[in-house]
Amino acid sequence: MSGSKTYEDEVKQKSREKQREFIKNNLLIKKRTKDIRVVCFPGAEVDGEEAIEVKEVYDKLGIPRENIIGLEANLERAERLQRVDLGIVVKPQMDLDFFSKTDKKFDIISLDYTGYRDEAKWQALHQIAGNQLLDGHGILATNYSAKRESRKNQGQMVALQLDSFVNNKNMDGGEDIISELAEAYENGDKLDLSELRDNLIERTLMIMRMGKSALFPIDILSTHPFHEGIQKEMERIERETREKGLDGDSNFMFKNRYESGMGNKGVSHFHSFSNRSANMEALAYHIGKANNISANLSNFFVHYLVDMDMRAQFPRSVERYSYTSNKNTNMEMDLMAFTPASFIYRAINNEVFYDPKNGKIRVLRMKGGKLLREADKIYAGKHMEIPERIYLGSSFVHPGKNKKKKNEINGRGLEVISKDGAVDLLKSGVEPKEIMECYSGFSINQLAAYKAHYVTMGKEYTSDK
Ligand SMILES: C[S@@+](CC[C@H](N)C(=O)[O-])C[C@H]1O[C@@H](n2cnc3c(N)ncnc32)[C@H](O)[C@@H]1O
Repeated sequence: MSGSKTYEDEVKQKSREKQREFIKNNLLIKKRTKDIRVVCFPGAEVDGEEAIEVKEVYDKLGIPRENIIGLEANLERAERLQRVDLGIVVKPQMDLDFFSKTDKKFDIISLDYTGYRDEAKWQALHQIAGNQLLDGHGILATNYSAKRESRKNQGQMVALQLDSFVNNKNMDGGEDIISELAEAYENGDKLDLSELRDNLIERTLMIMRMGKSALFPIDILSTHPFHEGIQKEMERIERETREKGLDGDSNFMFKNRYESGMGNKGVSHFHSFSNRSANMEALAYHIGKANNISANLSNFFVHYLVDMDMRAQFPRSVERYSYTSNKNTNMEMDLMAFTPASFIYRAINNEVFYDPKNGKIRVLRMKGGKLLREADKIYAGKHMEIPERIYLGSSFVHPGKNKKKKNEINGRGLEVISKDGAVDLLKSGVEPKEIMECYSGFSINQLAAYKAHYVTMGKEYTSDK
């Protein structure tokens, strides 16, 4: 064995076991292993340690290697993976490039990133949902480093959360805290984002719920008589805000939003949410009138039509873990299994039909009472409580010591970072100055030299531990 730290990361190994169990409990009950298709980052940090995820997760479950696509953006690692010829398909590509172009579908999409959530990682999720790359009942696994995002990314995180409050009427409490964070960000103050970061799974789930509409417009919403009027009004508001600018939280969200890949009408653009809810309300009004039914029932029909049109995916099972890797990086892993809209609405799918020409809803055999009972069941199937994150432990060993320490603290009250950890952060775009402010262990000159070597000049970094 090479003695490198990657293989000896026992807590990372624990996380792979959690992932394996999750797949076993949530997917293998639904599908034969030989039919399961996977895309993942197998990893190949050093010789002899290629594709540990494949060996520890998919091999042990009996998923055939030829069903696995391994993405690797680092060309040297990709070559290493190819050289060992494991029988998986290796794509030397960034995930975002792959997800933007592929026409393949997967039962498992496993995104075991090295860095934190940034714009490209959000965009990758939009491509997955928008292009419907995850099978309706599939599993999405994400793993991000959970600390010390760049300042720009911190702004995006706060904007995302503000945006979720503005657009999700079911979320209550905590708006003031987020607004305060936005203000602190504008003032250049230091932010404590631990709780907010932990909640970002809500955004991931929201993107999966958007389905196709994470990238494309929702056709059904243009089938009511008020559509043109709403369109004109939205354009007027858009023009006006461009001239006058926005105030307060809206301005903050606009300035700090991430680009989803949908351009100016992207879902992270708050106008697209207003646009959607205005059109949903108008469609509900139209259906209510055309069928002479209650507002509740017409709302239910609109959600049915929109969820089906978007091909929304709803979480059916979620597990969340965190751990401190042997590079002293805190990682947050989310395991999510989904149910497609077509399954959630299966009781009424072949029962309820909408005629866009006149707004009429035709219910075949189901009587009113039964329909309302089904509506309650459907509502329950769309919502789930997100469980707390479970800490799996730490495998960080302080350099020069053989004793394991959790979140080592030094004289400046800062955690010690390893060289591996520092290089990872530099490669993810974090500046040496920011690393200095948050961690101890290296001088600014050392960090600047690492940045010059491993980022600017692109020299391959090999762990020297
Ligand atoms: C954390 S490692 C994977 C470890 C592996 N899953 C395991 O269990 O041992 C992440 C790997 O994916 C590559 N990678 C990171 N971000 C990527 C991206 N956006 N697209 C493609 N490859 C990426 C990194 O170079 C690295 O080799």
